[in-house]
Amino acid sequence: MRTDTVRTCNVRGGCHLANGTESVPPERTNPNGGRFSAARLSGPHRICPLALLDGANSVRWHYGLMDPVAEMLLSEAAPLGSHVLVVDDVDGAVTRAVAAAGSAVSAYCDDARERAALGAAAVPELRPEVIAVVDQVLVRLPKSAGALDELSELVAGHGGVDVRLVGAGRVKHMSRAMNASLARSFTDVRASLGRSKCRALHASGPRHPQPTWPRRGYIEALDLHVVAHGGVFAGTRLDAGTRLLLANLPVAPGGVAIDVGSGSGIIATWLARRGDRVTAIDVSAAAVRSTAATAAANGVLVSTHLADGLTDIAPASADVIVTNPPFHDGAAKQTGPTAGIFAAAGRVLRPGGQLWTVFNSHLPYLSWLRRDVGPTRVVAQDRSYTVTRSTARSG
Ligand SMILES: C[S@@+](CC[C@H](N)C(=O)[O-])C[C@H]1O[C@@H](n2cnc3c(N)ncnc32)[C@H](O)[C@@H]1O
Repeated sequence: MRTDTVRTCNVRGGCHLANGTESVPPERTNPNGGRFSAARLSGPHRICPLALLDGANSVRWHYGLMDPVAEMLLSEAAPLGSHVLVVDDVDGAVTRAVAAAGSAVSAYCDDARERAALGAAAVPELRPEVIAVVDQVLVRLPKSAGALDELSELVAGHGGVDVRLVGAGRVKHMSRAMNASLARSFTDVRASLGRSKCRALHASGPRHPQPTWPRRGYIEALDLHVVAHGGVFAGTRLDAGTRLLLANLPVAPGGVAIDVGSGSGIIATWLARRGDRVTAIDVSAAAVRSTAATAAANGVLVSTHLADGLTDIAPASADVIVTNPPFHDGAAKQTGPTAGIFAAAGRVLRPGGQLWTVFNSHLPYLSWLRRDVGPTRVVAQDRSYTVTRSTARSG
């Protein structure tokens, strides 16, 4: 990694090193080598020169494979301060750049799949003591305003008086609600100019708000209490697909059950209440914490697991899998994670075990279920959703 001091520079390039030489053409080097996986990144990326101001306001030169959001985040971050917390840094590029600039760095990702990229900087939870020691929080803006609202509340509630939060995202994924969330927790909120279809939001002056997260609700139709952290699917509401799925599940206990993609934990709690021994899995840490809190609020036992689908689950270990499967990956609509869950369900179910699922009727899932799990029946259908039951083949 180059750390030559530069005299002048801008994020687009045209930098002049202090020794009088021109900047190295960006294509020449990627110091992060194999640690970057361009395939994991979405959108246009390039190897770009990046100006970083470190705590001493000297400028360092860093080359890395950056997507425009990471680039925007870093270019808006100066001065970094002595300890930076980076949140949802999907490929670890911001974390590495901050470390290269000489600041201490802690990093947290809600999505379990993205944690490996954070290396030694990773913290398992955003605990108050993690927030208390940082000067600045850099966050890739989440899709949901709720997730930003909870993060803002946490930072403004536990950070020092000088703590700053900078968030960056693609303009098409940003909303006014994000400014409102920040303004609820900070006295000063401003937006940067847009660049490469991205924008940054700056917040400072913590108001030390009263905690309002996680949110609590009650679903009368199910007589069930729900606890939801920010960003969790459907919040404290009952999703229409989940409602149709639960209305068609047998009320007799099913045995060893898995709710994969558990979100706020409504399905897992419902299964535990009917007498199943339930494991709830979600790739989002906020969802896992919500599921555990929902189960506790209803006085049932659910074992929770932060993981990517059914990858860690032993073969032929479950009698029943119930899922309202994911249809988003971050801000993008994707069927890949669901395809993975269906393929693994055929392995994880004991022969004769059942996979119950619900999906938007236009999706091609029926043929996938028949191919990957076994004979599949449509149990219910309404104007939007289809509920199916698949029986795992023997052997
Ligand atoms: C449609 S929501 C359903 C949530 C909840 N079961 C309900 O019915 O309200 C899908 C859930 O799958 C989770 N998810 C997405 N990709 C996943 C993956 N690869 N492995 C496990 N969970 C995943 C999401 O975080 C989300 O909570």
